[in-house]
Amino acid sequence: MKTFHVLPLLAAAIAAFAGPSLAAGNKDEMKAASKVSMRSEDAKPHFKPTGKPVSAARGEAIFLDHCALCHGVQGKGDGPRSAFFVPGGQYIPDMTIAQVLAGRDKELIENIREGLHRFPEPSYVMPQFKYILSDEEIRSVLAYVKTLPARAAKK
Ligand code: HEC
Repeated sequence: MKTFHVLPLLAAAIAAFAGPSLAAGNKDEMKAASKVSMRSEDAKPHFKPTGKPVSAARGEAIFLDHCALCHGVQGKGDGPRSAFFVPGGQYIPDMTIAQVLAGRDKELIENIREGLHRFPEPSYVMPQFKYILSDEEIRSVLAYVKTLPARAAKK
């Protein structure tokens, strides 16, 4: 009856292998998630610094992956997700207008990190990116976003 001894071992091995993402990991993740608030003052980026320099070029790829869905490829606020916006009730900035972003780096980084919901329902929520992007990635994507007015002007 060797198989009966092997099976639990095999199951244990699989559990150990998949551990952090499945089984026990899930409970810990849920515990951690329940402690997360939208705007905690001392929130730190989830990811360790990548050590890479801030770069608008890297920011472009990040923008297309994570932001264009709502903000649109050019940043006008006309991404595919905007098809679901409530007409008239939904606010998303036109980031091709330089004044929208000028001189607000610190605040913008904070808002990309923490998410943003300035206006009451049915206004649309900007998700928080601190668990998705590293500090450098957030700075790189902002560096790219700030090139959007010049890019739009060229077209
Ligand atoms: C699910 C849709 C969605 C996604 C994805 C999204 N945003 Fe936003 N973003 C919004 C909305 C909506 C607002 C306006 C929120 C408000 O002011 O209430 C906004 C606002 C902003 C602002 C202006 C903030 C300010 O303080 O004026 C910046 C900058 C910005 N987003 C950058 C980004 C970047 C960079 C990404 C990708 C990493 C991103 N957004 C992804 C929906 C989104």
